[in-house]
Amino acid sequence: MCGIVGILSSRPVAHDLVDALRRLEYRGYDSAGIATVEDGRLQRRRAEGKLRNLETRLLSEPLQGHIGIGHTRWATHGGPSERNAHPHMSARVSVVHNGIIENFRELKAELTAAGHVFESDTDTEAVVHLITHELGKGLGPVEAVKASLKRLRGAFALAILFAGENDMMIAARLGSPLVIGHGNGNSEMYLGSDAIALAPFTDTVTYLEEGDWAVLQRTGSVIYDRDGNAVERPPVKSQASALLVDKGNHRHFMAKEIYEQPEVISHTLAHYIDMSEGRVRIPDLGIDLASVPRVTISACGTAYYAGLVAKYWIERFARVPVEIDIASEMRYREAPLPEGGIALFVSQSGETADTLATLRYCKANGQRIAAVVNVRTSTIAREADVVLPTLAGPEIGVASTKAFTCQLTALACFAIALGRARGTIDEARERELVDALIEVPRHITDELTTEPRYEALAHTLSKSHDVLYLGRGVSFPLAMEGALKLKEISYLHAEGYAAGELKHGPIALIDENMPVIVVAPMDDLFEKTVSNMQEVAARGGKIVLISNAPDDAAGCALANHIQVPTAHVFTSPILYAVPIQLIAYHTAVVMGTDVDQPRNLAKSVTVE
Ligand code: AGP
Repeated sequence: MCGIVGILSSRPVAHDLVDALRRLEYRGYDSAGIATVEDGRLQRRRAEGKLRNLETRLLSEPLQGHIGIGHTRWATHGGPSERNAHPHMSARVSVVHNGIIENFRELKAELTAAGHVFESDTDTEAVVHLITHELGKGLGPVEAVKASLKRLRGAFALAILFAGENDMMIAARLGSPLVIGHGNGNSEMYLGSDAIALAPFTDTVTYLEEGDWAVLQRTGSVIYDRDGNAVERPPVKSQASALLVDKGNHRHFMAKEIYEQPEVISHTLAHYIDMSEGRVRIPDLGIDLASVPRVTISACGTAYYAGLVAKYWIERFARVPVEIDIASEMRYREAPLPEGGIALFVSQSGETADTLATLRYCKANGQRIAAVVNVRTSTIAREADVVLPTLAGPEIGVASTKAFTCQLTALACFAIALGRARGTIDEARERELVDALIEVPRHITDELTTEPRYEALAHTLSKSHDVLYLGRGVSFPLAMEGALKLKEISYLHAEGYAAGELKHGPIALIDENMPVIVVAPMDDLFEKTVSNMQEVAARGGKIVLISNAPDDAAGCALANHIQVPTAHVFTSPILYAVPIQLIAYHTAVVMGTDVDQPRNLAKSVTVE
């Protein structure tokens, strides 16, 4: 993650920019920089490494100016260096950015051909030159940004300064958070990646929504939606000064964490993918991947379902046999393990007792231990030979959401790397799968715009006593995850089943009182699942289809159809996690349960 900040003030801003960046260092600290407008000219200071290096630079080369932007970087495109540090700028425009511009290579080629000179390896610089190019056509700053935003694909939060504009800053967000802070009177306005950055200056904030962009002046801001219509976003009182992690403008941490997924998946992708090359890079596992006889996977709960998806991916793309088991079983059954095998553990907290015990069993039996964890200082991380981190950030809600999709992201990269090492995936196939992954944040951003429709479905489900989730192939683990999500936060009984197993017993459950939620992307198993839906419909079952298929593709009546964006089938498990999270969340809200801290549960089960 990266942190961005902007300040319009009646006094010099450099010190306050650095103060705000210090509160954003948890989002990344590969480099830092600020830019201001001084006597109409853009000025910049940047430094590689921690924020203190920028502070040292500013002591010897201070910046004046009463309007400025700042950035603390977690490197995505281009290594950590001063050359790649934000702000990026031309003579007319300066930009700081959090996120990934998917189509930056195409934009860079077009702008280079138009005579723009790039000085860094970053995607952000394409935004600078795109806006500069639009200004060069005679557009004013607002129109130039409006035209440029239409060209950008991906996830981004932007703060933009202009030469000659001492009282204008433009902000934009799509897939990465951005908050406007309202200063005292009509003389100060602020911008930040979250309310934490702005807490020293104001507790009155306005959260920009997906697709919003805004023009800030000292007297206030005008906010536009993605279609360019002026919109009102209510200012709220931030709790950030009291809490280091706040809920933003969400009712629950779980909702906030569902909405953070485009951003945190972007950062997890950037950790594993060399965006310039379109190649996956994983840490050296210290073992010859080409000759690994088997991968053993073990985890608990949601993390186990992520591991089960990985089983399908690893076996399909790397052609390596995978054994998977829940840790509470595997730790006791004295499973025989092959010499030279990899044991892969998935855990958000990195402290789950059953998972840790199984890790120790596998280590004692000569396995190479790899761990997909969100807490890099955790016990599991420390005891693993290799850590494959998820960059989900702190997950407060007990029901795991963003950690799950980041686990899937890391595991997808692992499967690709394993396939490349074994020659079962060629360069073209790797590029295809990587490009599919890079589009995931944008697709999830689109999915989140349909959230209001889940409320009606939630009211229907809240009246049920039992809910059945069905899925085939990689959607089978998603069906089980959907059932777990619903159970653990709404307290409704739910069960996830392999759709092909329905006829072997569970179909006896089907009647008009049993909602059946079917997870079914239009992949090679879709037609098989259609048959299962028709079996359900023939017995009066109420079907909720989650699919990118058209309404009539099911060939039977649907009680509800949640449309998912059409994307590469490889990424279906990640995209289909969002609807099952939102179903569970809104049903729990209707049920009035404690969504963030459901009864009987804990965020990390550190006991047997
Ligand atoms: C997920 O929503 C649950 N809170 C739970 O199943 C969780 O996934 C499980 O306890 C494993 O936790 P871990 O990922 O921290 O190991």
